Amino acid sequence: MGERRSVTGLRQVGHLVTRFFTSLATSGPDPDHERWFVGLLESGERELYESMTAADRGHAVIGARFVADHADDDGIGDRDLTTVAVAAGLHDVGKTVAALGTFGRVAATLATAIAGRRRVSSWATDHDARAPSGRIGRMGRMSWGDRIGRYADHSDLGATMLRSAGSEDLVVAWAAEHHLDRSDWTIDPDLGSLLWRADRAHRAHRASPAHGEGPRL
Ligand SMILES: [Fe+2]
Ligand SMILES: [Fe+2]
Repeated sequence: MGERRSVTGLRQVGHLVTRFFTSLATSGPDPDHERWFVGLLESGERELYESMTAADRGHAVIGARFVADHADDDGIGDRDLTTVAVAAGLHDVGKTVAALGTFGRVAATLATAIAGRRRVSSWATDHDARAPSGRIGRMGRMSWGDRIGRYADHSDLGATMLRSAGSEDLVVAWAAEHHLDRSDWTIDPDLGSLLWRADRAHRAHRASPAHGEGPRL
C-alpha cells in the first residue's frame, strides 16, 4: 500500500477508546438491520462478514445504516449507494485475522498510539490474509506479536481480503485508507468524510427511533 502516514495519537486513541466501551456494551447488530446489510453483500463478502465478531458486526451494520440514511444530505451523487454502504460496513474486516479479544485490542491500540502503526505491524511475522475457512486452526497458535501486529495492520489486511472477495474498488480503498489522514485518501474527500463519520456513528445511531425501517437502496 506504499508509504502513507497513519493517523495515530490522541485523536485515534479517543475513537478507539469509544469503540472499546461500545464493544463491551454491544452484543451484536440489530437483526433486522443485519438482514438488510447482508442482502447488500456478494457471496465472498458475506463469508468475510460472517467471520467478524458480534461487536464488529454491530459496528459494521450501524456504519452502513448511517451511510444509507445520510446519503441524501451528503450528496454521494451518482455513486452506487449499495457500494458506499458496503464500504462503510466492511472496512474493519481485517480485524478478523488478528484474533484479539477486547482487552487485546486495547493493548494493540495503545501500542499503536505510542509506537506507531508501522512499527507495531512489524511485530507480526506473518501478514497472510487467509480466507476464514482456512485460518481457524492456526489462530490458536498465533503469538501475541502476530496478533497485535496484525491488528495494527488490519487496514491493509482487510483490503487484501476484500480484493480477493471481488469487492468494488471503493470498498477495497476505504478498508485500506480508513485510518489514514484525509490528505492521504485516494477516494473522493466528500465521500471519505461520510464514511469517516459512519465509522464513528456507534450506538447513538442504532438507538435512534428514525431508523426502524430499511433505508432506500
Ligand atoms: Fe479500523
Ligand atoms: Fe471502524
